Amino acid sequence: MLNKINLWKKGANSSNLRDRIVETKKISVPSHIAIIMDGNGRWAKKRALPRVAGHHEGMKVVRKITKLANELGVDVLTLYAFSTENWKRPKSEVDYLMKLPEEFLGTFLPELIEENVQVKMIGHKDKLPSFTLNAIEKAIEKTKNNNGLILNFALNYGSRVEIIEAVKHVLNDCKSGILKENELTEDVFSSYLMTSELSDPDLLIRTSGEIRLSNFMLWQLAYSEFWFTETLWPDFKEEDLLDAVNAFQNRQRRFGGV
Ligand code: FPP
Repeated sequence: MLNKINLWKKGANSSNLRDRIVETKKISVPSHIAIIMDGNGRWAKKRALPRVAGHHEGMKVVRKITKLANELGVDVLTLYAFSTENWKRPKSEVDYLMKLPEEFLGTFLPELIEENVQVKMIGHKDKLPSFTLNAIEKAIEKTKNNNGLILNFALNYGSRVEIIEAVKHVLNDCKSGILKENELTEDVFSSYLMTSELSDPDLLIRTSGEIRLSNFMLWQLAYSEFWFTETLWPDFKEEDLLDAVNAFQNRQRRFGGV
């Protein structure tokens, strides 16, 4: 079956997409996929468009990839939509990025509800404009009883801050006696992170040819498989997600064992 998938990868076209999905589902798919969606600005620059045009195109890809991940039976899709460092961008770009969740959910929330998708968010809510937060909180509320794919937006998220806050929380709980020092295991520490309700990602995808983590899920990605592509996020297609999942299916995960 894997040979068949490799042949498909060479001659991928839309006519065999359905077959590839069916074949991919026959082997276990990653339970949690995390994606660093990179390359929107370069996509726009190549077309002499403003950077925000790349973000808008990238938003449409989010819809396509969410649909496919749900169809494949992936449990969690975490998307790095805005980092704690992204506030350094020009105000006009930040303003635009902050409007995207509202536009995305304004357009697609009925479909997500229909498809049993559950929306979640990791990141700090405090700095987000109220229209961004309202759109996300409404989506979280309206999809809270769904039990299909968890679409987890990392928004105003930074992993180092997340870890430092978890450490402070642990110290407080030790001081007040809720937690004893010798009870602090990896699992217990994980429960102090923003991802406490989620499993760690099995597969990390980063687009656009950059090979770095950019402060994304540093603790959670300790044993994840990484898959990088030169493809810019707005050009990322269903076939690319299948390539990543098929590559994952060909990996041997040893978690430090033999
Ligand atoms: C990085 O590309 C991308 C971002 C900082 C934003 C990602 C956001 C989206 C894809 C849309 C999100 C959609 C929703 C629904 C929230 P870049 O701008 O750094 O690209 P560059 O490296 O080519 O400049």
